[in-house]
Amino acid sequence: MKIRRIINIYFSPTGETAGVGRVFCARLAEKLGVPVENVDITLPSERRGTYGFGEEDLLVLAVPTYAGRVPNKIEPYLRGMFRAEGSPCVTLVTFGNRAFDSSLAELADIAWKSGARVIAGGAFAARHAFSDRVGEGRPSGPDREMMETMAENTAQKVLDACESDDITSPEELRGSYEKTLKIDNYYVPLTETGQRAVFLKAKPKVDTERCVGCGTCVHSCPMGAIAEDILSTPGTCIKCQACVRKCPAGARYFDDEAFLSHVRMLERDYGRRAENVVYI
Ligand SMILES: Cc1cc2nc3c(=O)[nH]c(=O)nc-3n(C[C@H](O)[C@H](O)[C@H](O)COP(=O)(O)O)c2cc1C
Ligand code: SF4
Ligand code: SF4
Repeated sequence: MKIRRIINIYFSPTGETAGVGRVFCARLAEKLGVPVENVDITLPSERRGTYGFGEEDLLVLAVPTYAGRVPNKIEPYLRGMFRAEGSPCVTLVTFGNRAFDSSLAELADIAWKSGARVIAGGAFAARHAFSDRVGEGRPSGPDREMMETMAENTAQKVLDACESDDITSPEELRGSYEKTLKIDNYYVPLTETGQRAVFLKAKPKVDTERCVGCGTCVHSCPMGAIAEDILSTPGTCIKCQACVRKCPAGARYFDDEAFLSHVRMLERDYGRRAENVVYI
């Protein structure tokens, strides 16, 4: 077994997951002396191809946690996008300081069922897409050090495997057919008063006084949900916040009361520092 390249596949509407993948892959590539090829599947135009990978490809799969799982609108594409004939694979998730719940296990399941062999997995806390006050300052310097240490240990594991042709996967992330992988139901978001926060149909609004008509929101929406006219959002909105965070004029916002109440609950209850988790 010899690794010739790292393939970094990521979905990252507001950039946190891309950042974690970048830090991790840079150190991994340095240690292994191989190049990184990025496959960014954030935009709909990029989620078209199917890929085939082999034993010489080291896959790094990275997604954010949405409702405790892999984002449900991306999961079907991820499940079909590649066949990997025994490629070693690292699964990475970010989460917004609440909890990653089952997202890492589900991502590992996707990798296993596509033929890859999961050799490491990590969940890293990041600023929550919904609020700068949740997961503020994450990933921090020590978080990045942890990503780099994980990359170094993964590289060592790969190098050892190249000698022995034998590679193990962490117990916690073994394939579901081995019955050690637990994937729970989606997390149910709550309001400040502990009620179910129903905001599935919420869509972002536009402050027309501020909007400069640049079209950034239209072209950065991972669902292609926003019409070219900027004002209407006929497509499915996954609440990713890409349009809100990327708008240069601060003109995009959500005013759905259930959504805002959920955000206030997160700000109130999830101020503590969530721990990262690494499995190798
Ligand atoms: C729709 C949605 C659901 C989310 N659900 C969770 C969650 O269940 N737990 C959590 O800790 N963070 C949650 N987050 C926060 C994201 O996991 C976090 O902001 C992530 O780093 C965003 O990745 P990105 O910057 O690559 O888009 C959620 C964010 C969004 C947009
Ligand atoms: S419209 Fe919805 S899905 Fe599209 S970028 Fe905005 S928040 Fe994300
Ligand atoms: S990104 Fe902001 S300023 Fe640009 S078109 Fe969209 S709402 Fe208007």
